[in-house]
Amino acid sequence: MTAGTLNLTLHVWRQPNSATAGRMERYEARNVSTDMSFLEMLDVVNEQLIAEGKQPIAFEHDCREGICGSCGFMINGVAHGPQRGTTVCQLHMRHFKDGEELYLEPWRATAFPVLKDLVVDRGALDRIVAAGGYVSVRTGSAPDGNAIPVPKEEADQAMDAAACIGCGACVAACPNAAAALFTGAKISHLGHLPQGQAERDRRALRMVRQLRLEEFGSCTNIGECEAACPKTIPMEVIARMNRDHLRASLETRGERKAAGGE
Ligand code: SF4
Ligand code: FES
Repeated sequence: MTAGTLNLTLHVWRQPNSATAGRMERYEARNVSTDMSFLEMLDVVNEQLIAEGKQPIAFEHDCREGICGSCGFMINGVAHGPQRGTTVCQLHMRHFKDGEELYLEPWRATAFPVLKDLVVDRGALDRIVAAGGYVSVRTGSAPDGNAIPVPKEEADQAMDAAACIGCGACVAACPNAAAALFTGAKISHLGHLPQGQAERDRRALRMVRQLRLEEFGSCTNIGECEAACPKTIPMEVIARMNRDHLRASLETRGERKAAGGE
């Protein structure tokens, strides 16, 4: 080992496809620069595997800047690894010790079937957003910044919720594999803004309905999601989702009653 480098032992989940059983395989990563990101370290391991005529380790990535939400897997049982508020693409090797053994596994949740190695299918999150996580009115071209005044506190909370990148770490960290933090963030983001009010009730009803149709568990307020979230989305968004959903459900029932229904 030279200065600023590490030798690591990796135990990586290898699974060719969702229909075939997977297993852990051991790899030695030698002379890893402490300046590398975790994904750059895997790139080097993969180059070596390719040179040996072996299959490279499949993992997802795109921006490598912590903004797209593509990357993510478990490192020693922790979603996105040991550094709080950090995606695995932004995690640097200087946070690890020489000689460490690292266990890399895909997100474990029934709703996220493994596609290959560390890559899972997160289509369930897309379907929740497609159910109502948008504003459908015509908004025209971008208005002047101050044309629609938004109170500072509301704008801050909307921005905090909008930071969700849809990575799925909250689901992977939750013992129930619940997607309440993700769905709460998407509902809160638009629910805090004037442009999101017209469809606020419908959005909460549709997104929560889709959340329940997918194979996620129920939220029991454990809080692992907040601890694992690389964007440190607070659990308040779950309370807000529940409030919006309850209010919308009661209003819908009230309207049904007034119209002569049960
Ligand atoms: S709430 Fe956080 S952990 Fe969950 S998908 Fe969004 S960014 Fe990822
Ligand atoms: S690759 Fe885009 S957030 Fe990690």
